[in-house]
This record gives sequence, C-alpha cells and structure tokens, in this order.
Amino acid sequence: MKKVFGMLLIAAVFSACGGGSKSGSSDSSATAATTDTSAMAASASRTIDTTQAGGKLIAKNDCLTCHKVDTKVIGPAYADVAKKYTASDAVVDTLANKIIKGGKGNWGEVAMTPHAALSMDDAKTIVKYILTLKK
Ligand code: HEC
Repeated sequence: MKKVFGMLLIAAVFSACGGGSKSGSSDSSATAATTDTSAMAASASRTIDTTQAGGKLIAKNDCLTCHKVDTKVIGPAYADVAKKYTASDAVVDTLANKIIKGGKGNWGEVAMTPHAALSMDDAKTIVKYILTLKK
C-alpha cells in the first residue's frame, strides 16, 4: 500500500518534471516538484505547538530528544504515532502508561525510557495532543 503510493508519487514526479532528479528519495523529489506538494512541504517541518497543554508538556520534558513531529529520530515521528492509533479512551490509557513506564516492541527494538515523574493526567494530555498530529 505504502510502496504502491510511493511508486505512484515517484512516477507522478518524474512525468511532471521530465525525470530530472535521481535523488531516490520520494520526499525530496516531492518537494522539488512545484505542484500540489505545498501541504507536504509545509507539514514536513511542523514543530510542537507549545500553546497547547500537551505541547507544552512535551517541550518541558525530554521527549524532543527522541521525537519530532514529522521525522523519526530515536523514537517514531509523532505524525506516525497518530497515524497508527485511533484515539479512544483505551488507546490514550495504553499510550500514557507506555510513556510513564517506557518500553519497546511497537516500533522496533529500541526502548523508550520511562517517565515516572509524569502524572497519568499529564501523560494523557500529551497523548491526546500527539494523536492530533496526524498528517
Ligand atoms: C530515549 C529516547 C526517548 C525519549 C526521551 C522519549 N521517547 Fe517516546 N519513544 C521512544 C522509542 C524508541 C519509542 C518506540 C517504542 C516501541 O518500539 O514500542 C517511543 C514511542 C513513543 C510513543 C508510541 C508508543 C507506542 O507504543 O506506540 C509515544 C506516544 C511516545 N514515545 C511519546 C513520548 C513522550 C510524550 C515523551 C516525553 C515524555 C517521550 N516519548 C520520550 C524513545 C523516546
């Protein structure tokens, strides 16, 4: 599904600009094309909104050492987390617990460090904010 979309995107970009770019990265080719990609280009550089309670908590903690909104760092991009889960009470609970306790396995073998100092309420506020970051 993802692969097919990537292929279509590359095909579209190549036909749109005559196949000039051989960068191999669909992201940078998409940015190079001039049509219909402004939304993607803009969202590629989103940052945490610290006027939101959840965003403020993220900025106050160490989350941004390992996470960015649109790019995988050590942990998954928040946009990918938002894409993977549908917000529900159960999901918010599970993810808030995971942030507090840490752990691995859902995205790979690298573990998230525990954040035992976070309250469950704050962790839930953070998760609800992250789940709004879907592209
Ligand atoms: C040391 C690096 C690191 C820090 C600091 C960190 N994370 Fe993570 N985070 C990770 C990794 C690695 C994963 C993937 C874990 C897995 O594979 O299940 C992850 C996963 C997540 C997930 C998805 C969990 C899942 O099970 O799908 C959320 C939500 C998250 N982090 C939020 C946060 C928040 C909020 C903070 C700050 C309070 C934070 N992270 C701090 C590394 C980090």
